[in-house]
Amino acid sequence: MTTTHAARPIPEPAASPYLTGPYTPVDAEVDVAGLETVGELPPELEGSYLRNGPNPRFSPIGRFVYPLDGDGMVHEVQLAGGRARYRNRFVRTPALLTEEAAGQALWAGITDAYRPGEDLVGPALAGTVRDLPDVNVVRHGGRLLALAESKRPFRLGPCLETLGPDTFGGNLPAGITAHPKIDPRTGEMAVFCYHLTPPFLTWTVIRPDGTALRPTPVEGVDRPGLVHDMALTEHYLVLVTAPLFFDLGQALAGGSLLSWEPDRGTRVALIPRDGGPVRWCADDTFWTWHSANAYEADDPGAGNPVVLDYVQWDAPAGLAPGRTGPGAGRLTRATIDPAAGTVRREQLSDDDVEFPRIDDRALTRRHPTIALTGDSGRPRLHPEAADTLFWFDPRTGATTRWTSPDLAVGELAHAPHPDSDDPDDGWWLTFATHRATGGSWLLVIPAADPGAGPQARVRMPVRVPLGLHGTWLPDHPGSRLTTTGGTP
Ligand SMILES: [Fe+2]
Repeated sequence: MTTTHAARPIPEPAASPYLTGPYTPVDAEVDVAGLETVGELPPELEGSYLRNGPNPRFSPIGRFVYPLDGDGMVHEVQLAGGRARYRNRFVRTPALLTEEAAGQALWAGITDAYRPGEDLVGPALAGTVRDLPDVNVVRHGGRLLALAESKRPFRLGPCLETLGPDTFGGNLPAGITAHPKIDPRTGEMAVFCYHLTPPFLTWTVIRPDGTALRPTPVEGVDRPGLVHDMALTEHYLVLVTAPLFFDLGQALAGGSLLSWEPDRGTRVALIPRDGGPVRWCADDTFWTWHSANAYEADDPGAGNPVVLDYVQWDAPAGLAPGRTGPGAGRLTRATIDPAAGTVRREQLSDDDVEFPRIDDRALTRRHPTIALTGDSGRPRLHPEAADTLFWFDPRTGATTRWTSPDLAVGELAHAPHPDSDDPDDGWWLTFATHRATGGSWLLVIPAADPGAGPQARVRMPVRVPLGLHGTWLPDHPGSRLTTTGGTP
């Protein structure tokens, strides 16, 4: 929207539980080597763990809707030879640079109708929606990208410096969403993007060398809606389109930009990677933020269905008007019949979870373990912060858990053993923050026995707020450890 350029009062400061406790933003950017480690870092674990997340540079104004709002901050822990180094950097968008020059927040939340005028941000940025590359960080085709919800990503340099927005040679001017999927067999990265104007949903593929093909509209979408994640199989992109729509009229009247319409049902799009016609499968209404993985079951008698494992919610907590609580996320399996257009769903576990992750080498194929972050059900100092890590085995239905009485924990990422194809020879990594002291750690958990908890904890030199998504890069250029470093 670019219609509210006139000078208007800057909205009041935002209030949100996601600005407090272990979510409290930090403003220091540091680079520190020789981090203290409790336990022993595996010598084979060499590379960088990177994680992005909302970290408002200044006190937010207007609405602050987690996880959509906030400035991006990427945290990196480099591991080599049993030693560790940390750095963090803001993702500096034009809006953030403008706010830093002003010394205060000038943009309100993304669901807020307020847009700053020319008097505050100059003619080039007046009336704009700011970039929000605060959701994920991925590397593909020579690019290290901080990813936004559905907007242009920002490219980062080897020391996390912001190089600028990336439109993939101009082929993707509208950008991509924050959860592309890389096919480990072909090296292609499948991406999608949603738009407020037709075509409302598009997809494409970025080749291993970073060349982007022009986006293709997804047929059969007649309203703009929010789709956060996708899954990928050998032959399909899998998009779950729940009835969370953008409503510009409502937003311009001072209401929410988003409208949850549960009577409309949820549909799953199977988009053939070869460009064939989209197969839509209709179902009752449910919501999902994140998928774990999808694959094509080799079961000709059942129509070779697509199996999608994901975390299901009744509604998008925080975005659905009238919802009073956060609800609960349940690991769920959808079996989708492309020919019949049907979806059969089965809850896999009773645990309250989010952030499903697998060993990314199994993407598009049957996965052995789903790692999740969630809730033990025990009272906690900060009710929004997860206290338990879960590992679900789809083959047996068994769950392994690790709960810390002291730590708020984030999403897990799998780091493979460099000499093994067995995911259990690798490790699971996440940041965790002590609920009382605010001190943060990188946890290194052996995949072979995750219930035993971390075999090593690396103390972070600054608090790492709970955030969103991360990745393990075994050969990231920044992973070369030096002994220089220190707080700037
Ligand atoms: Fe996400």
